[in-house]
Amino acid sequence: MLFKSRICIGILLLPWFPCTWEKCIFDQVQRSIKVVSPPTGQYASAHWSMRETTSEENPAPHSSKHQRPKRAEIHVESMTAPQPIRIKIWVPSESPALTELESERLMPAVDEAVGEVSSLLSVRPVQHSLLLNRDINKYCKFIWRNSSTVNHMKCGRANENYRFESCLGVIIPDEHLNGCAVYPHPEHPVRTMLRSEGTGVPETDFLLYVFTHSTEKCQAESGILAYAAHCQSDSEGHPVAGAMIICRETLSMERYTHEHFVQTVIHELFHVLGFSKDLFSQWKDCSLSSQAGVYCWSHGQVTSTDEMGQVRLYSPTVIREMQKHLNSTHPDLGAPLENKDAGSDGLSSHWETRVLQGSIMAALLVEPSLIRIDPITLAALQDMGWYSVNFSRAQSLVWGEGEGHRFGSVSTCNSSAFFCKDSGLGCHYLHFHKGKCLTDQYLDGCQIFKPLGNASECWKEENQGSGMKGSGEIYGSDSRCFISNLTRLNNVTSSAAVAGHCYRHRCTGINKYQIRVMDSDWLDCPAGKSIEVSGYQGLIFCPDNRICKYSDLAPPTSRQKADDLINAGTSIESSDDVMEKDMSTPHPSFMHRSSVTVSEAEVIVAAVLSIISAFSLLSAGVLIYRKCSSARVRVHAASEPSFRPQTPPTQCIRRN
Ligand SMILES: *[C@@H]1O[C@H](CO)[C@@H](O)[C@H](O)[C@H]1NC(C)=O
Ligand SMILES: *[C@@H]1O[C@H](CO)[C@@H](O)[C@H](O)[C@H]1NC(C)=O
Ligand SMILES: *[C@@H]1O[C@H](CO)[C@@H](O)[C@H](O)[C@H]1NC(C)=O
Ligand SMILES: *[C@@H]1O[C@H](CO)[C@@H](O)[C@H](O)[C@H]1NC(C)=O
Ligand SMILES: *[C@@H]1O[C@H](CO)[C@@H](O)[C@H](O)[C@H]1NC(C)=O
Ligand SMILES: *[C@@H]1O[C@H](CO)[C@@H](O)[C@H](O)[C@H]1NC(C)=O
Ligand SMILES: *[C@@H]1O[C@H](CO)[C@@H](O)[C@H](O)[C@H]1NC(C)=O
Ligand SMILES: [Zn+2]
Repeated sequence: MLFKSRICIGILLLPWFPCTWEKCIFDQVQRSIKVVSPPTGQYASAHWSMRETTSEENPAPHSSKHQRPKRAEIHVESMTAPQPIRIKIWVPSESPALTELESERLMPAVDEAVGEVSSLLSVRPVQHSLLLNRDINKYCKFIWRNSSTVNHMKCGRANENYRFESCLGVIIPDEHLNGCAVYPHPEHPVRTMLRSEGTGVPETDFLLYVFTHSTEKCQAESGILAYAAHCQSDSEGHPVAGAMIICRETLSMERYTHEHFVQTVIHELFHVLGFSKDLFSQWKDCSLSSQAGVYCWSHGQVTSTDEMGQVRLYSPTVIREMQKHLNSTHPDLGAPLENKDAGSDGLSSHWETRVLQGSIMAALLVEPSLIRIDPITLAALQDMGWYSVNFSRAQSLVWGEGEGHRFGSVSTCNSSAFFCKDSGLGCHYLHFHKGKCLTDQYLDGCQIFKPLGNASECWKEENQGSGMKGSGEIYGSDSRCFISNLTRLNNVTSSAAVAGHCYRHRCTGINKYQIRVMDSDWLDCPAGKSIEVSGYQGLIFCPDNRICKYSDLAPPTSRQKADDLINAGTSIESSDDVMEKDMSTPHPSFMHRSSVTVSEAEVIVAAVLSIISAFSLLSAGVLIYRKCSSARVRVHAASEPSFRPQTPPTQCIRRN
């Protein structure tokens, strides 16, 4: 099979990898890719040569004090105003034929994810067509190295084994690619075309090859739904093309949900568009935009370790949003990166889940209704310097809001109301679900209330039957989880333990609400206090700053109701659970394709994760790299390229 023989990632099939749910392997995958950028000869500029000297080798995250030097790296871009990013999906012709069910699931979800991303991000549009580059080290056997010759850095002799360019094993069609030529003489401009120039892809800012296949990577770890990497960048290091492999088994999974799949695709898209530790050093500050163009400065090194040993991402918008979110004026409040999936460089392309739980860019994607496209993630996208982000579409993160700069550290998590202790029952912090106090592989021993496996959604009327008898629970779209030990007075059994219970609620103001239990009236529930209910013994605790505070928080069912209201009278196909992130989405292709019915049984429960130590990953990585290196057959017999300071090629190309 072509796919397997091209790339060594198949070696990742290591039998001792434990199974996990929803694991993102982006960093491993991206590391195996040699990103192709425009040939230096063609686009040589002061900008490019300066970038070489900044050297991306090991950004030394462990320096005790981070430095953010502003180097005067200026370049001027075209004057066009930013427009929503046009992400073109290309399904390669060698893709396997999908079943009807698989196709019905795949494209609507990918389209919805792409629509969501392009409603968030704008770019200066690529003029004309997007044309990708060929890797000179692949098509060329010998490169002219004498800098005083005319054909410096051009190809002197063709590699007769050259076949095609590929991205994560997906063959890039010739029509998407630049031509390439051989210059037999160092001084003579005469050349022989090896491949003619393609037509490019019109009206495209980013080209995403989407390949659905049960790759060995998919089979090796059952928690992987999809993975991706970017393969091509422009002369500024900005990703312009990448591939996403959809694990085919994802599409026929019994517990498949449209929302979860859409979020997975968005998550991987954010990685591919620049949320990648390999690109941190290339993020630019383009805040001084003017009408004459955009002046960009390098942020310098954006990652560093704070005094607590936490690796953080420090870039201006990220710091600002972190300060806003945690209500802190701490000047060096970068956004923390996950320590549990950090590579040998100490970096991860995910947020630390203790601090940014629920973010779309946390390492673990849980129940779809609990995932937020949060302002800090959008800030990171803004700070890449390539995108203009619509912050008004950010979803409030809720987790940790206003808790101060120490929030989420291992030493303080026991004292925060967002975390829990012991193994009690309570409420998930968004109060849609009853929860159990649990930890996971990313929480470093801290514990949080995770939705119970069984019927824990307060907003689902069907759960009424499994509710706790005698505590007056009511399930329904306006019900939320409240911690209480309410028991009916006429019940002779001993009083109930304090746990999460579902009761109805209605808002009477910001952070002001009333609640209703079985057979009671609407009762004021003052935030931060507890109340009694006549006919019952025990108390209900009224959470502070969680309920009736965030207008963009709603359980799936009430979102559906709102959609139905909006769509009343129009002839949109009815569906049980269209989950729009935002009802006023400006993207036309986004609205009507998102209806996939999800049965109640399929809603994902709190995933219990087996623990993968960073060490096993690391040693696996070393092992893979070794295997790759020994198996690698160099395509270019010429001397090592000296002009490419990026990561060493770990892609294993075999002679065909
Ligand atoms: C590089 O090319 C110039 C001009 O052709 C020539 O004079 C010089 O000797 C060459 N240098 C080397 C190291 O080959
Ligand atoms: C940003 O998003 C909001 C809400 O979707 C929309 O009303 C607004 O027009 C968008 N702004 C830009 C500049 O695209
Ligand atoms: C932020 O903190 C200040 C002082 O610590 C406090 O007065 C203010 O109420 C807080 N704001 C929010 C929104 O929590
Ligand atoms: C938090 O408290 C629990 C029990 O109260 C304890 O077992 C656990 O070790 C503490 N965790 C941390 C991170 O201090
Ligand atoms: C879920 O509930 C069913 C019936 O109430 C019970 O048999 C099962 O053990 C529960 N599962 C879990 C994980 O709690
Ligand atoms: C009393 O509570 C128990 C469980 O807590 C429940 O099974 C029973 O139905 C209740 N009895 C009445 C009269 O509510
Ligand atoms: C309910 O819980 C509160 C707080 O833990 C406790 O003071 C009260 O005695 C409990 N009431 C009953 C009836 O169990
Ligand atoms: Zn990821």
